[in-house]
Amino acid sequence: MSTPHTGIIFGTDTGNTEELANRIAEQLQSHNIEADIHNITDAEADQFDDYELLILGIPTWDFGGIQADWEDFEDVLAGLDLANKVIALYGLGDQFGYGDYFVDAMGWLHEKLADSGARFIGYWSTEGYQFDASRASIEDGKRFCGLAIDEDQQCELTDERVARWVEQVVSEFGQQANAA
Ligand SMILES: Cc1cc2nc3c(=O)[nH]c(=O)nc-3n(C[C@H](O)[C@H](O)[C@H](O)COP(=O)(O)O)c2cc1C
Repeated sequence: MSTPHTGIIFGTDTGNTEELANRIAEQLQSHNIEADIHNITDAEADQFDDYELLILGIPTWDFGGIQADWEDFEDVLAGLDLANKVIALYGLGDQFGYGDYFVDAMGWLHEKLADSGARFIGYWSTEGYQFDASRASIEDGKRFCGLAIDEDQQCELTDERVARWVEQVVSEFGQQANAA
């Protein structure tokens, strides 16, 4: 497999999703993949053109609300042509504090990009999480539409989750590249 040109684009209010971007980039390095990291607040639409693999990170705020910088980007998102792109999502949330809205914003991003032409990889099992409802859950609640990270309640699980997810993303990218 050739090394995918990879961009990690995140939004954040209090820094956790940026910190995760760095940890994901470190794990990618162990697979010999160098990723560029961008804050969505400074991103332009054509930045999405630069990458074959886009890893998009978003936290949820205020009872299912969308992180503000991603919300400001909503109109641009709607117009993106992401045919031939591969997208993996990660979302941050708090499953005990906001169990009816856990990582909802990641579900919003998945819905917004559903018609963009991109292929999604990195869907992630809901096992090991406790929550009542999530807009990010798919397949009858069996999986999330991306990696769910909870730095408020399960930070001790984050390193292992990131390592396993990055391995999965790299493997699924390779499979989809071979199939293309
Ligand atoms: C006021 C407030 C509202 C929040 N609302 C939600 C929510 O609706 N759903 C959720 O999963 N997490 C919620 N969270 C948890 C944040 O998503 C979590 O702390 C996340 O790590 C923040 O990421 P950031 O530092 O990148 O902004 C909330 C946290 C606070 C303080």
